[in-house]
Amino acid sequence: MSNPITFTPLTPTVGAECCGIDISKPVGDEIITVISAALAEYGVLLFRNQGITPLEHIGFSRKFGELDIHVLDQFLLFGHPEIYIISNVVENGKYIGAHGGAKYFHSDLSYNPEPSLGSLFLCRECPPEGGQTEFASMFAAYDSLPKEKKKWLSQQRGVHDYVYHYETFLTHRKPLTKEQKAKLSPSTHPAVRTHPVSGRKGIYLSEALTSHLEGMCVEQGRILIKEICDFATQPKFVYRHEWSVGDLVFWDNRAVMHRALPFNEDRYRRIMHRTTVHGEKPF
Ligand SMILES: [Fe+2]
Repeated sequence: MSNPITFTPLTPTVGAECCGIDISKPVGDEIITVISAALAEYGVLLFRNQGITPLEHIGFSRKFGELDIHVLDQFLLFGHPEIYIISNVVENGKYIGAHGGAKYFHSDLSYNPEPSLGSLFLCRECPPEGGQTEFASMFAAYDSLPKEKKKWLSQQRGVHDYVYHYETFLTHRKPLTKEQKAKLSPSTHPAVRTHPVSGRKGIYLSEALTSHLEGMCVEQGRILIKEICDFATQPKFVYRHEWSVGDLVFWDNRAVMHRALPFNEDRYRRIMHRTTVHGEKPF
């Protein structure tokens, strides 16, 4: 008889470690249903010791929906464009992955009209110190807002703009090409979104990706976005993950914001593989 699947909470507000699943073996639909429900409940699921191939990573991810292909096509894994590489490693004079980004809390692909449901992030190589990922529960943050602030925020809409993000926060990278920019129109989403499975409400704004609030002076909107994001990412709402090779973390982009912590990029290597499951229009 196989081991039962268990979920052990990682903090009181967000995250659980899932044991009893080997992703390198076929995973049945009934187990996928259990994982989907746990994702909606915990926001972040950790699966340790998953020595999986790119094909197994893609196959498992596809069980949760269609996969998005990232617009930065220079960082897609050769032969497997569903895998987006995040890395500081340079080969043949070129970075093999997206590097030096993600230092501000965000939700992946929030600039798309139908942003990502969730990301499945696999650690292939990590530094002995630094380079952790932090996840903040947008449900816990929303629940903690004063009543008047909840009401005000529920009436706001954020403009999520990758070109703004890139040209403001990623100036160390090569500029976006004309073709990439053409695929990147901003999208406007409610500042408070409802989770389609649990019905819980969470904050959906990012200092890095939300360029402004709709219908408000840009500068004033940015000040308010920063204020809300600072509130929403207090340590009491956050789980910090220390990576080990073989960790697969599946996070719900509808429920949490995440960011990477810095590490000594001149001294250590970090190679992460990400698949990104397509989601639906936020409401
Ligand atoms: Fe991200």
